[in-house]
Amino acid sequence: MEKKTVFSAVQPSGVPTIGNYVGSIKNWVAMQDEYNCIYSLADLHTLTVKQVPAELRQRSYELLALYLACGIDPEKSIVFAQSHVHQHAELTWVLNTITYPGELQRMTQFKDKSRNHADNINMGLLDYPVLMAADILLYGTDVVPVGIDQKQHLEIARDLAVRFNNRYSPTFVVPEPLIPKVGAKIMSLQDPDKKMSKSDENVNAFISVTDGTDDIVRKFKRAVTDSEAEVRFDEENKKGVSNLLTIYSLFSGKSIPDAEKEFEGKGYGDFKLAVAESVAAVLAPINQEKNKMLADKGYLQSVLKKGMEQAEYLANKMIRKVYKKIGLIEP
Ligand code: TYM
Repeated sequence: MEKKTVFSAVQPSGVPTIGNYVGSIKNWVAMQDEYNCIYSLADLHTLTVKQVPAELRQRSYELLALYLACGIDPEKSIVFAQSHVHQHAELTWVLNTITYPGELQRMTQFKDKSRNHADNINMGLLDYPVLMAADILLYGTDVVPVGIDQKQHLEIARDLAVRFNNRYSPTFVVPEPLIPKVGAKIMSLQDPDKKMSKSDENVNAFISVTDGTDDIVRKFKRAVTDSEAEVRFDEENKKGVSNLLTIYSLFSGKSIPDAEKEFEGKGYGDFKLAVAESVAAVLAPINQEKNKMLADKGYLQSVLKKGMEQAEYLANKMIRKVYKKIGLIEP
């Protein structure tokens, strides 16, 4: 049977958090044997908020090095920068002509970002899900591994695929989201009602994948919990503790019930320290590997070049097909 196609991406818009790691990158690694995987740096998406050019470039290399350090293997998967394959922007244009502003205006992320960047509500911010749909649809993607915050954007991608297929003829695969059962939404350490985000103003709210052990311990020690002193999973009444249990389970490999037993009768101090140690134990070797990769820019560039060529071959076939179906003269 033909392998199914997987596509996913992270924006190089800040240092990825442990939320990005468990919600996406970690799961990409495991899919590489079973699927044809395509993993991108969503660099064009970052332009929807103001960026410092030199920082954007450096963060893009850092994110690529992180992908590789986490175990994304460019011999198995296509790894490339979105901006290197111009068909992403071209398909966005075509999809824009079948997208209604109303369906973009009601996106939760658009509303949130418009609030947070009130001085820069630009067309790109509104159009962001259409670029994301183009990313996915260009490759005949079957499965998109993402955290829960991207589910709404996946629905737009599905709607656009169906709309185009109905208007012309079957062209795009209608993609399915793959959302992890545990870790689809890691919450802020300072406000467990909010998603952990790499762009949070409060650095104590998130753990970056590059944080060292001291920072990790300090941030977990300060994490907001409750006054009960009971390590029990209860997402309704004990959001902070439940979030920490989720993180502990994902990083230690222990189940949540086993973790609850482990800390029976113990205070939050011991528990928080154990969570911090489990996270540090996973992140330290990844960072070491990442720094090694970053020291060899030539290698990183060769990975991007190969990925660009592989992705462009596929993207070109799709955009030709699309242009032909909509009635543009073939060159
Ligand atoms: P981005 O860069 O915001 O996030 C990258 C991935 O991390 C997941 N994620 C989380 N998972 C669990 N807990 C959290 N607190 C958390 N925060 C973020 C996100 O769901 C995502 O999977 N638009 C996308 C990037 C993108 C993309 C695509 C993804 C561009 N084109 C095509 C899939 C397919 C984004 O901004 O992700």
